[in-house]
Amino acid sequence: MQNVFPGEVFANTADFDTGIRQLLPRYDEMLEVITRCLPSTTGRILELGCGTGELSLKILNSHPDTEVIALDYSPRMLQFAQEKIAAAGYQQRWTGIEADFGDWANNPEKLDIASKFDACVSSLAIHHLQDEMKLKLFERIATSLTQDGCFWNADPTLPESPALAEVYQAAREKWAVQEGINLTEIHAKRGTSSTQGYSSQNQVATLDTHLQMLTTAGFKTVAVPWKYYGLTVFGGWL
Ligand SMILES: C[S@@+](CC[C@H](N)C(=O)[O-])C[C@H]1O[C@@H](n2cnc3c(N)ncnc32)[C@H](O)[C@@H]1O
Repeated sequence: MQNVFPGEVFANTADFDTGIRQLLPRYDEMLEVITRCLPSTTGRILELGCGTGELSLKILNSHPDTEVIALDYSPRMLQFAQEKIAAAGYQQRWTGIEADFGDWANNPEKLDIASKFDACVSSLAIHHLQDEMKLKLFERIATSLTQDGCFWNADPTLPESPALAEVYQAAREKWAVQEGINLTEIHAKRGTSSTQGYSSQNQVATLDTHLQMLTTAGFKTVAVPWKYYGLTVFGGWL
């Protein structure tokens, strides 16, 4: 198996958009929840771990006055996103930056994105950080948002008990069957990953832990607008 960065998932970037929809139940719905939680007036958005640009594209479609600054540490994912965004005609409203968001949390002065954001979003990326770094990142996000700014993150969360872990796994397997997927074929397209920068394969935390971290980081209102078995959209407002 080819080595990939944590979060790149597939050996070939072109397999990501189809493969992620086969592996994860309700991927599009999950990202759409984030777009709906963003106020229509949102101006400047920071996206962490943009991957192939699927969330960026949904936001640019639904929020015509919005500009997205998108970070990812993977040159090949950023390149794929860049081409997709340009093909959709949104290149004036999207900037891709090659950077590790863990590094940004620790050394914000290294990145020239100093002015404040109205919102920060992320999907399927932050669970690659250890909990200590998740908290630092949430604190960095809080200090980078305008007053009343919001943060929404879609990520897998740690099952609340071993019994629920089985329930969540069964839901994913049922999804694959409904989609008519041959899981062996799709897994053969995946790469293997260990550690890259601040990320490693799976550092999932419980939903409760995330919500406590958000409160500690300074978010006054925390919320969970969507949860489907082990996938969750959570976040809040300052
Ligand atoms: C599973 S993909 C999700 C991409 C996209 N957000 C989506 O929902 O389709 C995770 C992305 O996060 C990026 N990523 C993981 N850890 C990162 C880090 N520490 N800094 C920057 N990007 C990171 C990976 O390169 C990958 O593009």
